[in-house]
Parts: sequence; C-alpha cells; structure tokens
Amino acid sequence: MDSILVTGGGVLNGEIPIAGAKNACLTLMPATLLSDEPLTLTNAPRLADIATMTALLRSLGAEVSSLQGGQVLALSSHDVNNLKADYDIVRKMRASILVLGPLLARQGHAVVSLPGGCAIGARPVDLHLKGLEALGAVLELKDGYVHADAPGGLKGATFEFPFVSVGATENILMAATLARGTTVLKNAAREPEIVDLAECLIKMGAQIEGHGTSTITIQGVQSLKGATHPVVTDRIELGTYMLAPAITGGTVELLGGRIDLVAAFCEKLDESGVSVEETQRGLKVSRKNGRLSAVNISTEPFPGFPTDLQAQMMALLCTADGVSVLEENIFENRFMHAPELIRMGANIDVHGGTARVTGVERLRGAPVMATDLRASVSLILAGLAAEGETVVSRVYHLDRGYERVEEKLGACGARIERIKGA
Ligand code: UD1
Repeated sequence: MDSILVTGGGVLNGEIPIAGAKNACLTLMPATLLSDEPLTLTNAPRLADIATMTALLRSLGAEVSSLQGGQVLALSSHDVNNLKADYDIVRKMRASILVLGPLLARQGHAVVSLPGGCAIGARPVDLHLKGLEALGAVLELKDGYVHADAPGGLKGATFEFPFVSVGATENILMAATLARGTTVLKNAAREPEIVDLAECLIKMGAQIEGHGTSTITIQGVQSLKGATHPVVTDRIELGTYMLAPAITGGTVELLGGRIDLVAAFCEKLDESGVSVEETQRGLKVSRKNGRLSAVNISTEPFPGFPTDLQAQMMALLCTADGVSVLEENIFENRFMHAPELIRMGANIDVHGGTARVTGVERLRGAPVMATDLRASVSLILAGLAAEGETVVSRVYHLDRGYERVEEKLGACGARIERIKGA
C-alpha cells in the first residue's frame, strides 16, 4: 500500500487545474444504460472510482473506452447482456447502486448487490428503493441483492423524499426519464452534480424541468438518444485545493474554479480571513496577513456547506485563532480524521455529531492513517502546515477521488512525495 510523505512548513504559490467532478461522472456514466446510442463524456477525472464504475458497466455488457488519457469516456449500451451487478464490484463503491434505476427503466429487470463504500456511517439505500417502488418497481431483497422488476414498465408518480439524498435523486431521476407519464420529485437534491446529470439527460432527449430546485418534473419519453457532455468541475477538489494556500500561506489560482459551486464554503473562508478572488481563469486564493480566525461550520445539503469539505476545513481550523465548532449533519460517523489530527498536535473534542476545535499555534508532523477519502486529503493539508514530516498511510482512499495530488500540490512548491508500497 502506498503512503504519502509531506514535509510541512513552506508556503504555496502557483496554479492548480481542477478536474471534472468524480461524483458527477459517477452518475453520468450509468446514464449510458438508458440508451442504445453512444454517450461521450469529456472532462472526465482519472480516478480509481471511475475505473470501478467502468468495470461495473463492462460487466453488464456496456462498452466503455477511455480516450485521451482518460479525459474522454466513450460509452455504449447497445448490447447490455447481463442485468446483475455483482457484489465483488459493487462492494468497492457505493455509487454502484446508480445502475439500478437506469437498468430497470430500460430493461424492466435488474439485480444489484447492496453497496459498500466509505466507512462514514450506515448509509442505507432505502430512499433509492422507495422512489423506484413509487414508480411501480417490484423489489425483493434476497442474499444481499436487490431484485427489481418492472414487468409493464415504470409509471410516472409523485415522490417526496423524506430528507435530501443526492444518490437517490439521481437514481430516480434517471429511471423517470423512461417511465410512462409524469414524475414529480419533491425535496429533491439541488447539488451541481444533479444539474449536470439533468443537463446531460436533456441532451439525450429527456424532458426535465426544475433541476437545481427542490422540485424536479420529468415527462417520460419512449427512448433516449446519444449525446456528448462535459463533466462539471469538481467542487470538492476545488474546495480542497483552495484550502492549501489558506493553510500554508501564499497564493494559488484554481483553474476552472467557479464561486457558484462553492459559495457557502467561500463565505466561511472569508469569515476566517482567507481572500478569494474571481479571475478570468478561475479563482485565486491567498492568505497573507497572519493567523486565521476560528469559524463555526454546519454541514448541509447544497447550497449549504458540503459534508465533503468538512474534514479539510477542520484541518485549516486546527491552527486558526479561537474555538471553532463543526457540526456534521449528513453522516453520523464522519470525524474519523479528528484522532489523526490530534496525533499531529491539534486540540479537538468530538461529541456525537459536533467537533470543537481549539486552534493551536502549530501542528507537528506525525505518522497518520487515512480512514476515508476526504479524511485522507485533510491529513495531507494538515501535513503541509505542520512542522516536520507527516506520513499518511492507506492512501488508496485518496486515489479514489483525487488525481495526481502530489503533482498538483508539488507544482505549487509543496514538498510531497508518494512512497510506493510502504
Ligand atoms: C453523495 C456523494 C458523497 C456526498 C453525499 C452528500 C456521490 C457518489 N457521493 O453520496 O460524496 O458526501 O452525496 O453530499 O455522489 N441516506 C439514507 N437512505 C438512502 C440514501 C441516503 O438514509 O437511501 C442517508 C445517508 O446515509 C446520508 C444522507 O442520507 O446520511 C445523505 O446521503 P446521500 O445524499 O444519499 O449521499 P450519497 O448520494 O451516498
């Protein structure tokens, strides 16, 4: 297993290109299953999770070609010949459940293993299943698999999510594009990845209105056609790298960055004393004047502060002046980075879904362990600010969601290297 060695203490200056969004790409790829014509995705990120989704789609009989070094994905589902998504692939990544809605909608039958993924709480898929049932699917849970049937095809319906779920909104939105009649999704997720998916589906011939608001209306169509679609910018990668100069000092321009993707996060950076400026090419972040101030964070569905930036923000607040209170409202077990940050000298008290961070003057390098995707990058950020060397082990978590971290940060002056197989 690889580790990452970070030698902290230097400032960062330069530019970092931001990739297409992992989470958008993971929902755009299964959209291929809705049509027998080709779907081409450009601006795709090159990540382990994308390879896992590729393997899953191929196991179903879809063709997936990775072009231009992985930045373009050419997908085709004209010959889907297996309707069972096997446990061996699905367990690697929770987003695998996103093949269920499209398979069921076009093929009338699907068998999908219940998923695995990051260990950040129970993360059930009950809303995905309830939404599909509302569209007329008949579901049975057997031997760890969801057996789904829609003998006469799916039928449009009104479904209100009891709470916001990004994945369930995506799954049911895709299924509804081929259902007979009108589907209305209430309390739907409003994340930019949902908007991106809807825009791609519309290019494929779907009739969708209201995406980006909490009520999405879908008029089912008989079939969808091919399309070419660029994956939206990764707002989580963007936010993560915005924190790099914020934590070390210096100025970094994030190429392709957009304020509207990270508005709530930018408000908190501003409150803390980090400067964010819009440029022609993206966003420029700098921290020049002394220590940052503590701020309180409460994670919420979009447009609120994203749970996927909570760990990285905690790394920043470890050295801010004062006490910051971080409330995690989306996942119940998402402070696993706190004990690792404490090993680096941070002062953090966790009680249930609340973490109280009392800023210290300086962190110290230490051997630490990545526990999930976002936690792993928070430890790298902390390592950049710490005195001495930090070795982050179990970086396979990191590789699921960040491409070329060492290269991107190294180009801005970070002293960071991958230790192979350690
Ligand atoms: C997606 C993102 C993930 C992000 C999360 C919240 C992808 C591939 N992943 O995950 O990075 O952290 O949104 O922004 O896009 N829940 C249920 N039942 C369900 C579905 C969800 O109880 O059927 C719960 C979850 O356990 C969690 C909350 O709802 O507590 C929100 O989860 P959800 O929005 O569905 O997250 P994902 O789509 O899995």
